[in-house]
Amino acid sequence: MEITLAIIKPDAYKNGDSGKIIDRIISEGFSINGMKQIHLSRKEAEGFYEVHRERPFFDELTSFMCSGECIVLSLERENAVLKWREVIGATNPEEAEQGTIRAQFGTNTGSNAVHGSDSSDNGRLESNYFFAQKDLI
Ligand code: RTP
Ligand code: MG
Repeated sequence: MEITLAIIKPDAYKNGDSGKIIDRIISEGFSINGMKQIHLSRKEAEGFYEVHRERPFFDELTSFMCSGECIVLSLERENAVLKWREVIGATNPEEAEQGTIRAQFGTNTGSNAVHGSDSSDNGRLESNYFFAQKDLI
């Protein structure tokens, strides 16, 4: 079994799409090992996206991520990382396949509804960024 971290980003949270996204997570066979509502501080957002610090979109991305509430979820499933990325679709919702979460709930590359880890190692690291072991089922 593999771990991936999902985030329902501030755009999807504000739009009231959290319930539908959580429903989809469950119907795609993920176990939700941890889940909480958070409002990221700028420091926490910058720490989470540290790998993107030198990218031109870093400020826009971190400002957006601390602009409102999010829901973070530690998910477990066979091939969780790849499966979740399939379910969420391409980074730019306009390029995301029909039926994917970003096609359904995203607006543009900046406001793309959800996050997914990009590797097995990062799935664990990102889950540990938000959850202590005692908070996980
Ligand atoms: P995420 O990490 O949020 O799941 O998204 P991702 O893997 O599909 O994309 P990544 O390359 O890791 O980028 C992280 C987030 O930064 C924003 N972004 N903006 N303006 C731009 O060109 C641009 N490129 C990326 C997106 O919100 C993306 O989700
Ligand atoms: Mg990424």
